Amino acid sequence: MAQRIDVKDLNIYYGDFKAVADVQMEIEPRSVTAFIGPSGCGKSTYLRTLNRMHEVIPGARVEGTVEMDGVDLYADSIDPVAVRRQVGMVFQRPNPFPTMSIAENVLAGVRLNNRRISKGDAQDLVEQSLRGANLWNEVKDRLARPGSGLSGGQQQRLCIARAIAVKPQVLLMDEPCSALDPISTLAIEDLISELKSDYTIVIVTHNMQQAARVSDRTAFFNLAGTGQPGRLVEIDDTATIFSSPRERATEDYISGRFG
Ligand SMILES: Nc1ncnc2c1ncn2[C@@H]1O[C@H](COP(=O)(O)OP(=O)(O)O)[C@@H](O)[C@H]1O
Ligand SMILES: [Mg+2]
Repeated sequence: MAQRIDVKDLNIYYGDFKAVADVQMEIEPRSVTAFIGPSGCGKSTYLRTLNRMHEVIPGARVEGTVEMDGVDLYADSIDPVAVRRQVGMVFQRPNPFPTMSIAENVLAGVRLNNRRISKGDAQDLVEQSLRGANLWNEVKDRLARPGSGLSGGQQQRLCIARAIAVKPQVLLMDEPCSALDPISTLAIEDLISELKSDYTIVIVTHNMQQAARVSDRTAFFNLAGTGQPGRLVEIDDTATIFSSPRERATEDYISGRFG
């Protein structure tokens, strides 16, 4: 299921403002890549170009290519809705649909895609997705209760269950633990490590320890000053980035000297 991502010469704009410049990046399937860097350097913006969510903002556009297994997501023949199905996204704040039951939350993406499924298949998919998100044992006796009744960490795992229920090839996570307590954070990190065997995962994080714990590769982004575009400074094996990065700016950032 997992796919290789190949980004070439990517420039990302909000109207006239170039938010991110000249990104080149290859991401291997079945790996976790962490994006780190100071606030405002374009991590979220770049992440959203990987599933064509960026362009939903009026005036927002990209130049360059984003290939998944060799197919350019920005080619004219590509349907952005299909891309968003193939590339799931989990956000900073858990956002289950509050009035929907736990089970219906898991199925929400599948229903949006107009996929008709039998009751039995739906039940199987709910169980399989909740098991995949390490949440099944905690909620199996209350699937008909509202998703909003869960703790923050459980809600985030419910959102991950919803994302994987549509069987995406890639999972993008934008600071998925920033609203969670340390125990829930560890549960999500364990889950990411498990999901890696099936998906290509990209995670934005402000937490250096988290990047070091969960990711295989780390990409450091930075910006030269306000009004300047963010740039990818370097990407390498996570162990290398945290022990002997090539660039001085990376070392300064990971050692807490700025950002
Ligand atoms: N919807 C938007 N419209 C215009 N500019 C935006 C929008 N979202 C983000 N930006 C700008 O793009 C730049 C990168 O922001 P963002 O991707 O949120 O950075 P990060 O996630 O690294 O903190 C910032 O200068 C920010 O102000
Ligand atoms: Mg962000």
